[in-house]
Amino acid sequence: MKPFSSSTSTFIGKPRLSPYFFTFLAFILLSFFLYVQDLRRIIGHHYHLDITVNPPPSAAAEDGYTKLPVSIGEEENGCDIFSGRWVWDPVNRPLYKEPECPYIQPQLTCQEHGRPDRDYQFWRWEPHGCSLPSFNASLMLETLRNKRMMFVGDSLNRGQFVSMACLLHSVIPKHAKSMETFGSLTVFTAKDYNATIEFYWAPFLLESNADEAVIHRISDRVVRKGSINKHGKNWKGVDIIVFNTYLWWMTGVDFKILHGSFDDEVKDIVEVSTENAYRMAMKSMVRWVKDNMDPKKTRVFFNGMSPSHQKNIEWGGDPNGNCYNQTKIIEDPNYWGSDCKKSVMKIIVDVFKKSEFPITFLNITQLSLYRKDAHTSIYKKQWSPLTSEQIANPSSYADCTHWCLPGLQDTWNELFTKGIFTKKA
Ligand SMILES: *[C@@H]1O[C@H](CO)[C@@H](O)[C@H](O)[C@H]1NC(C)=O
Ligand SMILES: *[C@@H]1O[C@H](CO)[C@@H](O)[C@H](O)[C@H]1NC(C)=O
Ligand SMILES: *[C@@H]1O[C@H](CO)[C@@H](O)[C@H](O)[C@H]1NC(C)=O
Ligand SMILES: *[C@@H]1O[C@H](CO)[C@@H](O)[C@H](O)[C@H]1NC(C)=O
Repeated sequence: MKPFSSSTSTFIGKPRLSPYFFTFLAFILLSFFLYVQDLRRIIGHHYHLDITVNPPPSAAAEDGYTKLPVSIGEEENGCDIFSGRWVWDPVNRPLYKEPECPYIQPQLTCQEHGRPDRDYQFWRWEPHGCSLPSFNASLMLETLRNKRMMFVGDSLNRGQFVSMACLLHSVIPKHAKSMETFGSLTVFTAKDYNATIEFYWAPFLLESNADEAVIHRISDRVVRKGSINKHGKNWKGVDIIVFNTYLWWMTGVDFKILHGSFDDEVKDIVEVSTENAYRMAMKSMVRWVKDNMDPKKTRVFFNGMSPSHQKNIEWGGDPNGNCYNQTKIIEDPNYWGSDCKKSVMKIIVDVFKKSEFPITFLNITQLSLYRKDAHTSIYKKQWSPLTSEQIANPSSYADCTHWCLPGLQDTWNELFTKGIFTKKA
């Protein structure tokens, strides 16, 4: 097993410029655009989780669980595990220690990069209506025996993939695991279980000009219509798949959709609204799932929007600040930040409602919104030397999009795991 070395410049170990640097730049631009976009939108709908194919996993008795394949869509006892509160629990958290997990890329090792507090590691999610079992690594590995589980999407899903590898790491002997990268695909193997947990880089799910796993262009993004098989051919045969896609679409301006091919000399590009572009991607995903997955044997999950904390003013703080120097959670249970997430959530719900294949929606947005304290902020590897202006004003270069590990994304995995174990019919 080869731990990721922080002396090389990328997570996947190639001595090239990191995707995180570009992603970080992208997010700075993004935060500005999101701000502009928010001003343009007034959206007042309320959304209700009423997707029969997509119930919140139940709070069944522990012995009531069955292993995959599972039936989905059965009536549940009504506990929404995504509705709850954060509980301070330094006895049981964190679930692993940062220096003990060799897979965390240097963009997420906050302690190593000088974060002075560790409070963000000690929160546990408690649903209002039921209890959330603590992550059980042996049970998860047993469940994954002879199976492939894959996270597909952007750097947020990569963070959850790494969290999953860290959660499983301690119960697998050294000789029985490996972490390898093949282009867009990174594979963690638990050899004794013949199980793999994989991450596939596809920030739009469809083919785009940001598909290079290491260097992705950030400005002038173009996505090719009807191209999901370009990546999807690499997802075939997977037993449990977890998609995400959100932030890369939020450019704040109309989105460029390519008809035809990236190789065409004269490119046929049509600009559409972000909503229409995003809806197109969701529909492509649902169609791919229907054509390529077996509802009797496989599970499909979709990770909701991972929120950023770019503007203190949204939670009533210093108007110039952001997630930098935030060590407390947001207590207001109704906090929702900026509005554009609502229109995206509505698109997801609309499209999933029409899906024949049951897709389990992991509604992690609200619980993550409370966690302005959990971002990597300035405590990460910087890919270029900081300027004196930046040093004088740390919030100018704080990353308020990604999350420290251990931390919030371990909870996402506990919720996801709970989703995998479904009540016996
Ligand atoms: C997601 O959770 C939030 C907060 O509990 C809720 O308001 C929203 O309706 C949920 N969305 C869906 C699609 O279930
Ligand atoms: C974890 O799961 C294993 C296998 O099902 C079980 O034997 C064990 O008791 C569980 N551990 C905890 C702490 O629940
Ligand atoms: C190992 O797992 C793969 C699926 O990931 C499966 O196709 C194969 O049959 C398994 N091998 C054994 C020996 O069970
Ligand atoms: C960080 O926040 C605390 C209050 O929570 C404040 O006293 C302190 O000045 C802030 N530090 C910086 C560098 O902004």
